[in-house]
Amino acid sequence: MNDNNLPEHVAANREYWDRYAHEWVSAGKRSWQQAEPTWGIWALPESEIHMLSEDMSGMHTIELGCGTGYVSGWMMRRGAKAVGIDNSAEQLKTAEALMNEHHAPFELIHGNAEAVPYPDASFDFAISEYGAAIWAEPAKWIPEAHRLLKPGGELVFLGTHPIAIITTPENGAPSEPYLHRSYFELYRQDWRDVEVDPGGIEFNLPISGWLALFRETGFEVIDYLELKAPDQFDETKFSIPADWAKKWPSEQVWKLRKI
Ligand SMILES: C[S@@+](CC[C@H](N)C(=O)[O-])C[C@H]1O[C@@H](n2cnc3c(N)ncnc32)[C@H](O)[C@@H]1O
Repeated sequence: MNDNNLPEHVAANREYWDRYAHEWVSAGKRSWQQAEPTWGIWALPESEIHMLSEDMSGMHTIELGCGTGYVSGWMMRRGAKAVGIDNSAEQLKTAEALMNEHHAPFELIHGNAEAVPYPDASFDFAISEYGAAIWAEPAKWIPEAHRLLKPGGELVFLGTHPIAIITTPENGAPSEPYLHRSYFELYRQDWRDVEVDPGGIEFNLPISGWLALFRETGFEVIDYLELKAPDQFDETKFSIPADWAKKWPSEQVWKLRKI
């Protein structure tokens, strides 16, 4: 794909992730080595939040924003035939090295999860952990995930909870027990020029906005989780202080089924 034809957020996020991919290699290695999946910034165990079916034999899966590819690696161990798409060539280099090291080859696509080069109804299961879930535009990637799924197929994704965004000060400092941003105007967060820990361009919606989008797209909600930091944490992770995340939800999980 020609970089000049990419939407602004996709081009900006590509540059961001290509620049910082080297900082994610060791975390990717550790995740690939895990016998059991853990999820999100607080490493919550699969036994608690059930993102995957235990037996994924014969399931054709797509990971939207696969990064270093460990989620697809975990799904392959459960029997899935995996495909991963990611916007960053540098992240995909790590994914390729790790899949080879673990003798778990799967198809990697360099591209935008808002426009996946696969026919309609190709997949049984789609997933994103902090991939398309936060970096892609909801109005584009949610209908695209729906298109890619077979009827009855499931989309599960985990990302930042909207409350964690609206409690982030304008300068990008960690979440506080105060409301700093509009909840109703929550959509695009441009973190490129904040003083503290600049990032890329992310997206989120009020809960009612997510529900409306799922309804209009043709997804039914199977489950919705609001994740809490476990007691043992006391540090700040990815701009979320653990003590904050014991009182308010820092992450959300949506589990959807294509109608
Ligand atoms: C935090 S990683 C999440 C992936 C994986 N769980 C991990 O931690 O390695 C975010 C990934 O989303 C990818 N990404 C961002 N925007 C994307 C888009 N529009 N389409 C596909 N991937 C995207 C980035 O390139 C990055 O590799």
